[in-house]
Amino acid sequence: MSVFPDNFVWGTATAAYQVEGAWNEDGRGPSIWDTFSHTPGLVAGGDTGDVACDHYHRLEEDLDLLAALRVGAYRFSISWPRVQPGGTGPVNAAGLDFYQRLVDGLLSRGIAPVATLYHWDLPQELEDAGGWPHRDTAERFGEYARLMGEALGDRVHTWITLNEPWCSAYLGYASGVHAPARTEPAAALAAVHHLNLGHGLAVQALRSTAAKDAQMSVTLNLHHVRGVSEADADAVRRADALANRAFLGPMLEGAYPADLLADTAGVTDWSFVRDGDEATACQPLDVLGVNYYNPTLVRHWDGSGPKETADGHQDGAASPWIACESVEFVRQPGPYTEMGWNIDETGLTDLLLRLHRDYPDLPTMITENGAAFPDPVSPDGRVRDQDRVDYLHRHLTAVSEAIAQGADVRGYFVWSLMDNFEWAHGYAKRFGIVRVDRETMERTWKDSAHWYRDVVTSGKLPV
Ligand code: NOJ
Repeated sequence: MSVFPDNFVWGTATAAYQVEGAWNEDGRGPSIWDTFSHTPGLVAGGDTGDVACDHYHRLEEDLDLLAALRVGAYRFSISWPRVQPGGTGPVNAAGLDFYQRLVDGLLSRGIAPVATLYHWDLPQELEDAGGWPHRDTAERFGEYARLMGEALGDRVHTWITLNEPWCSAYLGYASGVHAPARTEPAAALAAVHHLNLGHGLAVQALRSTAAKDAQMSVTLNLHHVRGVSEADADAVRRADALANRAFLGPMLEGAYPADLLADTAGVTDWSFVRDGDEATACQPLDVLGVNYYNPTLVRHWDGSGPKETADGHQDGAASPWIACESVEFVRQPGPYTEMGWNIDETGLTDLLLRLHRDYPDLPTMITENGAAFPDPVSPDGRVRDQDRVDYLHRHLTAVSEAIAQGADVRGYFVWSLMDNFEWAHGYAKRFGIVRVDRETMERTWKDSAHWYRDVVTSGKLPV
């Protein structure tokens, strides 16, 4: 029997570049994702976020959709280049107005606004000046956070500084499958640091500008890393250091883990970390955001024979796993989602319990969880996405299991409210509980949306 606390927050999530469209309207500047998606060959099908779900022009309709779903919270992101086109200077009032209307529209419908400041759309001008490997980007991010705190801080319920800095650093600057498509491992580690620093500067700025009871958070895509056998303990440790403790260390403990610095010594000497930076990164948080899709399975690789790269990067291509030459990413048993990701909700329970053990005073919330499936439309117009319902049911059961074992989990946000631009995969991968018709932009509830509304309204899972 699943039990969620009475005040458990039920929500759905999106991100600006993935849903808004209106990429060059009302003074919005270009971001690294505009540049990336406009470069032929980088996004499947040549898709771009130029129109996305046209959410920018359909705000009222989408707010009504959220209200009809009965969610208590909505996680969206603010497009930095929409509100501060070049990443510096004054606020672009026309761009900010969109978020004013969004926040007010949520509040008038009784929905708590959960705002992510950075969901990967760095102003292109800042990338041209060096991007996240460059210290100034962290300073600019802190300044942008201050501007948003001043503008929206009286009404935003929860602030999330960064979304998945793992992706920003390693996919953006090491494997290059995300914007800005750079393949420079040393720069990726500098990006890790400046993201951590930027996070700390942003929390400081928000604490001094936002409402006193506003919640501060960051969203990490922590990897639940398992070894094939006990002989693989060092592979687990290495992957955990690079993927998880590179962020948890500075943000929650005020220091980079010594083993991470040692593992990566051949790539960088970390001299970009200045005295006091780790303390700045380590600001008290109210809740930790966790995005979870599947666990990671590793094995020690001794250099002989072909190496598995089941983490999604192509064999021979640049890897996001810096200094992990001895780590093999092993394909896991199915079932799989349309992304090829295995479905295993036990990793979520284990991850939440680990966080509870390591950081007992810090509550967590699941800021993303969901799945892409083919979602054919039946002749009667219905989308019978039973596979998504099963996925959500399994993972919510896993959350309730962690709560039953003592973890302080405050909420859950389905990724995603609606089908949207799935980064380098374009629109082919559909994560929404609401279908978006690419021709008409019409929104249609999938079966999972009806199911989720029932969960939200009852506060429990159907038996
Ligand atoms: C994590 C990211 O935050 C989100 O933007 C993405 O669409 C989902 N995962 C699914 O890949």
